[in-house]
Amino acid sequence: MTINNSFFSHRRSVTAKKMVAKPINSSDLEKILAAGIRVPDHGALNPWKLIVMQGDILREIDEEIILKEFKKDNPNPSQAEIEIESSRLQRGGAVIAVIYKPIDHPKIPKWEMQLSSAAVCMNLLNCAQSMGYAAQWLTEWYAYNNKMLERLGGDINKDLISGFIYIGMKIDEPTERKRPNPSDVITYL
Ligand SMILES: Cc1cc2nc3c(=O)[nH]c(=O)nc-3n(C[C@H](O)[C@H](O)[C@H](O)COP(=O)(O)O)c2cc1C
Repeated sequence: MTINNSFFSHRRSVTAKKMVAKPINSSDLEKILAAGIRVPDHGALNPWKLIVMQGDILREIDEEIILKEFKKDNPNPSQAEIEIESSRLQRGGAVIAVIYKPIDHPKIPKWEMQLSSAAVCMNLLNCAQSMGYAAQWLTEWYAYNNKMLERLGGDINKDLISGFIYIGMKIDEPTERKRPNPSDVITYL
């Protein structure tokens, strides 16, 4: 047996910094989203939500949430910091926020719901990358910011941001990064 077209053996992220922020074809985006939510999910609770951001909303959230929240903790930002913080989401053509939304359940632990939410992130990444897009899973500081979570429709008392999946165009194929030595992380009993 071989792994299907070796995609999984060679998959690589392209950093948001290196991707080109062109709008993502809407039918491709729909495919990525539809595949993204096909994840193992104990009890079929759907303990996650996907928030898709494109176009003007990326700039609005950059300016109204990310930059403003950054300035609260950094009252005298440098020009370079202002440039970075006011354009974070705009590095992507589309950015999908995955929100972990735990559900009270008598048997299924919240940990498993978190795992399912991470699976959504990884599925989105796999699907976008398999279609030839540049994509990266990022949290950065604003994934832990309450104003951001609220803006995305999350409940700051229980929900968490599992990640932002940045999707854009690839200019160059990424070079391989350091990977673990299989024998360091895999044991056969
Ligand atoms: C939950 C999660 C959060 C991450 N957040 C960041 C981040 O904030 N900044 C960063 O540089 N990389 C972050 N990364 C790592 C990037 O996605 C990185 O590009 C990735 O590990 C590249 O590996 P790959 O080619 O195997 O996909 C995060 C990864 C995960 C799983």
